[in-house]
Amino acid sequence: MKSVAALSTLLACAAAQTAYFGVISARSASPIHLLPLQANGGKFFLGGTPSGYCPSVAVGNETCAHYPGNSTTFAGGNVTLSLGVVVPGGQQVYVAPDGTLSYTGAHSAYIPEGSVRTGWNRTERDDGSGLGSLSFEEGLVACPRNETLPWQVYGQVANFTAPEGCLGFGAVTYNASDAAAWQY
Ligand SMILES: *[C@@H]1O[C@H](CO)[C@@H](O)[C@H](O)[C@H]1NC(C)=O
Ligand SMILES: *[C@@H]1O[C@H](CO)[C@@H](O)[C@H](O)[C@H]1NC(C)=O
Ligand SMILES: *[C@@H]1O[C@H](CO)[C@@H](O)[C@H](O)[C@H]1NC(C)=O
Ligand SMILES: *[C@@H]1O[C@H](CO)[C@@H](O)[C@H](O)[C@H]1NC(C)=O
Ligand SMILES: *[C@@H]1O[C@H](CO)[C@@H](O)[C@H](O)[C@H]1NC(C)=O
Ligand SMILES: *[C@@H]1O[C@H](CO)[C@@H](O)[C@H](O)[C@H]1NC(C)=O
Ligand SMILES: *[C@@H]1O[C@H](CO)[C@@H](O)[C@H](O)[C@H]1NC(C)=O
Repeated sequence: MKSVAALSTLLACAAAQTAYFGVISARSASPIHLLPLQANGGKFFLGGTPSGYCPSVAVGNETCAHYPGNSTTFAGGNVTLSLGVVVPGGQQVYVAPDGTLSYTGAHSAYIPEGSVRTGWNRTERDDGSGLGSLSFEEGLVACPRNETLPWQVYGQVANFTAPEGCLGFGAVTYNASDAAAWQY
């Protein structure tokens, strides 16, 4: 019994260590109000579908069924930010020198020189709702591409000047129970 109790304490601690969350944009009376922040092809977009992927040949169908990869979750948010993934090594979020909000590839730590990987701050409401907010030091903006494609997300770093038509937005967080994808 003692070892069972010890194990469940251990599991509870392990669960508490990695807190996953999703992000929804907030910019009232705009086309980018209440859209999910999605990871796709190394960049981030508001709306659209994420590029979640699971190597079922390597890890098995059952494992992959737990990580359908059709939504985007994050981890961290205390100075640095990561994607909520299972792939060993994880996937780190950074702002590239051209301002694009980006993430590292699976099995790669490569981040272009001049990128910004810090400046994140996730704060939680204390009302038990599981909601909170995520900020990036210099602010986040989304820029339209064409009528059919989701808006692309940028961090307002020194070398980036948002073109006309881009909109700043707030990032609302909600608790997620697990990573949503093996990798993106
Ligand atoms: C996964 O499912 C596919 C199709 O359903 C099947 O062909 C394959 O053998 C399965 N792989 C494993 C590891 O179970
Ligand atoms: C993702 O896929 C799972 C399993 O197919 C499904 O239950 C879930 O509703 C989907 N979620 C989204 C956001 O599409
Ligand atoms: C953020 O990280 C710092 C340094 O690692 C730590 O002292 C602090 O408690 C963390 N804050 C939160 C909200 O987890
Ligand atoms: C600034 O951004 C442009 C693209 O917008 C990029 O080509 C250039 O390399 C960046 N400059 C620096 C110093 O990162
Ligand atoms: C995050 O924001 C909270 C509330 O504004 C502040 O108390 C805290 O110091 C900030 N943390 C970081 C890492 O900037
Ligand atoms: C949401 O997750 C945080 C950890 O990031 C946890 O402290 C908090 O209790 C959770 N809230 C709810 C309502 O699940
Ligand atoms: C938007 O851009 C995509 C990719 O370049 C293209 O396939 C699509 O036709 C464009 N749609 C419109 C309405 O211009």
